[in-house]
Amino acid sequence: MREWRATDHAQPSAGQPAPDAEEPAGEPSPEVLARAAAALWDVRCASCHGSTGDGAGAEAPTAEMPDFRTAAFQDGRTDADLSRAIRMGQGLMPAFGGQLNERGIDALVGHIRSLRPEG
Ligand code: HEC
Repeated sequence: MREWRATDHAQPSAGQPAPDAEEPAGEPSPEVLARAAAALWDVRCASCHGSTGDGAGAEAPTAEMPDFRTAAFQDGRTDADLSRAIRMGQGLMPAFGGQLNERGIDALVGHIRSLRPEG
């Protein structure tokens, strides 16, 4: 499978030029990366974890889903813990290591961190 790239998911909305449209070979800007990670989340993760990360996705296999929006969740895990769970799976959580490369996994860890409550 081809390397996942943030720009694969970054669809500029109508009438708005993509911020990195001039430099397709460069590293994606943080905004592009964040948008791409959110799109990847919606496609691969929201069915179980919910689009907001609350764990209320329609296909959640258990009522005991972690709520990524809580400080208790965010403070209780390192980035390495999160990426390991995504790569290897954990309990009823499927492993995504065969489907996502490290950049995709890192982007999703960043997305999960962005769900941290304010303050
Ligand atoms: C089939 C439903 C399902 C899908 C799809 C899914 N997850 Fe999960 N995920 C779970 C369940 C259930 C758990 C709780 C696992 C446990 O600890 O028992 C979990 C746990 C996790 C954890 C670890 C939470 C902790 O307690 O440390 C992370 C991180 C995570 N998921 C990220 C993702 C990401 C990112 C995606 C998309 C690539 C994803 N998940 C897709 C069901 C899913």
